[in-house]
Amino acid sequence: MTATVSDPDLEGQFESTIARDQRIEPRDWVPADYRKTMIRMIAQHAHSEIIGMQPEGNWITRAPSLRRKAILLAKVQDEAGHGLYLYSAAETLGADRTELTENLIEGKQKYSSIFNYPTLTFADVGVIGWLVDGAAICNQVPLCRSSYGPYARAMIRICKEESFHQRQGYELLLTMMKGTPAQRKMVQEATDRWWWPSLMMFGPPDADSSHTAQSMAWKIKRHTNDELRQRFVDMSVPQAEALGVTLPDPELKWNAERGHHDFGEIDWSEFKAVVSGNGPCNAQRTAHRKKAHEQGAWVREAAAAYAAKRAGGDDDAR
Ligand SMILES: [Fe+2]
Ligand SMILES: [Fe+2]
Repeated sequence: MTATVSDPDLEGQFESTIARDQRIEPRDWVPADYRKTMIRMIAQHAHSEIIGMQPEGNWITRAPSLRRKAILLAKVQDEAGHGLYLYSAAETLGADRTELTENLIEGKQKYSSIFNYPTLTFADVGVIGWLVDGAAICNQVPLCRSSYGPYARAMIRICKEESFHQRQGYELLLTMMKGTPAQRKMVQEATDRWWWPSLMMFGPPDADSSHTAQSMAWKIKRHTNDELRQRFVDMSVPQAEALGVTLPDPELKWNAERGHHDFGEIDWSEFKAVVSGNGPCNAQRTAHRKKAHEQGAWVREAAAAYAAKRAGGDDDAR
């Protein structure tokens, strides 16, 4: 594929902005493939935030205390905010928000496969905060320096909130680990369920990642999938020790020569199955989103009617 316009001046300008580590802004000329890649990446990220509200939203009405309910509610609302923020960033590239939502509902665009796993106990809420938000932070901190300005700036705010999410999850787990043997068992079991899917969040191994090389050249991404996955493993091991849980990988051990932890082989066939729609909750997640979208139609219509009235100078609408 090639850029739609091949103006050497514009291309040169684009290349030199990237080379100087400066940001690309909405009005700048970009190659068609850069725009397409950026829209795909931001849309997938936005969809993940929105679908990601479901597994934890599942526990809001059953949180064990008012304090836990308030924290969880705030966290899930943050995720909604991240999604909306990112849809706006995609719009600066010419994407249409309604179309993006339809792509999600119709399964034409992906979201993070991690959200296709169920949340079986309240410990899952803690482990999602600790591991899933933790992996999201590893992925997203380098994106604060992504070459596309609106995305990079969105990431700065989102990462601050993700770091709150991770702490709330870890604090919840620490509390449960100080509780009864049954509570400690719940934490261990939730850790066992989420560890491997969390490692899959970084995407396929570098050798099989079709987008990585171009995304690195355009400075959209700053590190490869495997580099980020290693960083996450190294970060999580001491956290698991402090918590008193075992990570479910017998091959996990410190490698002094590499200065990193070695870890076992990821089951990529499971990853492929979940990504291609056959995870435990794929159908449920998309159906729920579709229903919410349909039930929200009257809100969108009312908002559009209100905006049209305001634009028409009708004082009653103010
Ligand atoms: Fe988020
Ligand atoms: Fe989060």
